[in-house]
Amino acid sequence: MTATDLTTDTVVTARDIRKRFGDHIVIDGFNLDIRAGEFVAMLGRSGSGKSTFLRALGALDGDFEGELRVPERRAIVFQEPRLLPWQRVLTNVTVGLPATAAVRGQARLALGEVNLANKAKVWPRTLSGGEAQRVALARALVREPELLLLDEPFGALDALTRIKMHALLLALCKRHKPAVLLVTHDVDEAILLADRVIVLTDGAISLDVEVTVAAPRLRDSHEFASLRRRLLVELGVHEEVQL
Ligand SMILES: Nc1ncnc2c1ncn2[C@@H]1O[C@H](COP(=O)(O)OP(=O)(O)OP(=O)(O)O)[C@@H](O)[C@H]1O
Ligand SMILES: [Mg+2]
Repeated sequence: MTATDLTTDTVVTARDIRKRFGDHIVIDGFNLDIRAGEFVAMLGRSGSGKSTFLRALGALDGDFEGELRVPERRAIVFQEPRLLPWQRVLTNVTVGLPATAAVRGQARLALGEVNLANKAKVWPRTLSGGEAQRVALARALVREPELLLLDEPFGALDALTRIKMHALLLALCKRHKPAVLLVTHDVDEAILLADRVIVLTDGAISLDVEVTVAAPRLRDSHEFASLRRRLLVELGVHEEVQL
C-alpha cells in the first residue's frame, strides 16, 4: 500500500495512554493516530511495551489510563498461531462467531485467500508453522477487521516463508484495506511493508516516520538503507550497518 491509498478517516486514536504493572510504568504518555487503511509498523527494544500497547488496542487488557478509540471490528494475530488443537482448521477460523452456514462459507473463502482451501478439514497438528500462521490470518480476516493487530506474526518463521507471508499480507491488505499495526523486531520487514514506522522507547513514541521509499522497495537501495540506518540508531544499534 502507498500513502496515496489512504483516506483521511482516523480509526485509532490513543491519547496519553499510561500502563503500569505495580510500580513499573510500561507505557508512559503514548499518543498515536492511525488512519483507515494505513499500515503502521511499530519497532522497539524487547520489553519496551509493544505487546502491552497492542493488548490495550485489542481490548485484551482494559486496565490502563488515557483515552483510546478503536473500531469495534478488530482482530489480532500473535507470534504463535494459537489454534485450538481439538478443532479442525475450518472451526478454528470461525471460532467465536455464530455457527451458521454463511459464516462457514466466509471462513472457506478466507482459507482460500491464504491458499489453504484444501486444509479446511484437517487438524492443526498436521500443519506446518507457516500454514498454521496462515490459518491465524484467515481467522482474523473472516472478521473483516477495520483494525488488524499483528504482534510479531512472522517471528517464528524461516526466511523464505517470511518473504512469502510478506507478499500475502500485502495482497490481503490491498483487498480488505484494514488499518494495520504490525509489531516487529525486523527493521527491514517494517520498511518493506509499512506506510509509517514508529519506534517505542521508554513507553512513548520516540520516532514517527513516513516510509517514502519508492516501490519496489529494494533492500539495497540508498533510500532503504538510509531509513534502516536511522531506525537502527533510534533502536540503539550502533554497529556498522553493511550497505
Ligand atoms: N502481566 C504482567 N505483569 C507484570 N509485568 C508485565 C506483564 N506483562 C508485561 N510486563 C512487563 O512490561 C514490560 C513490557 O512488556 P511487553 O510484553 O509489552 O514488551 P514488548 O515490547 O512486547 O517486548 P518483546 O519485544 O520482548 O515482545 C516488560 O518489562 C514486562 O516484563
Ligand atoms: Mg512483545
